[in-house]
Amino acid sequence: METQQEITSMPRIGDKAPEFKAVTTQGNIHFPNDYKGDWVILFSHPADFTPVCTSEFMTFATMEEKFLKANCKLVGLSIDGLYSHIAWLRSIKDKIEYRGMKNVEVKFPLIEDITMEVAKKYGMIQPNEDSTKAVRAVFFVDPKGIIRAIIYYPLSLGRNFDELYRVIIALQAADAFGVATPADWEPGDDVIIGPAGSCGSAEDRMQGKEDMDCKDWYFCTRKLDKDVVLKKVLKK
Ligand code: BEZ
Repeated sequence: METQQEITSMPRIGDKAPEFKAVTTQGNIHFPNDYKGDWVILFSHPADFTPVCTSEFMTFATMEEKFLKANCKLVGLSIDGLYSHIAWLRSIKDKIEYRGMKNVEVKFPLIEDITMEVAKKYGMIQPNEDSTKAVRAVFFVDPKGIIRAIIYYPLSLGRNFDELYRVIIALQAADAFGVATPADWEPGDDVIIGPAGSCGSAEDRMQGKEDMDCKDWYFCTRKLDKDVVLKKVLKK
């Protein structure tokens, strides 16, 4: 018998993304192996043919090119079957017009997970919210298959896709330039330098000996041009 822990346990930031094989609307996938070398956002939604999910899919599909340009592929999942997924995506394309978006074709794979095998592996079922629908989970997986960020929303709350894009850019900027990014950071904003590792270095920082702007020894920023970030992170 399956335990509550098996249903609700979830991978954590820094873990290897749990492996699975699945059928999707774009053919079979082997995750994360098929995505080696790319960033990928694996996200779940509660159910096909539901309005919040429809608004999310239209938004994500409309932004897909932007994510691909940032080296990031998209993979969706719900606890529905393949034919339901196909019918829903056809309905979105043929019938739904929303916020200026219409004829939206969802080209990224949508996983069929009727057995909940993948949803359980990723802790996408939160039984006190709903025991048969996945919550709105978002896993950001890096090119080595490591989970780098996780966001969870309840059933009633549609996600902010500009924020998901900001996360993908910020994670890559942090890796490329060895910095951290402060609250609400966007490319072009100053970035955070890691804390001083010794009393000597703390003193040097406060004496202005290093090329950074220190408000106090532990809070130092430096400039990082938007063009430099985007040149590094975006494909030509
Ligand atoms: C929706 O996507 O509209 C939705 C799904 C499950 C519960 C509530 C809303």
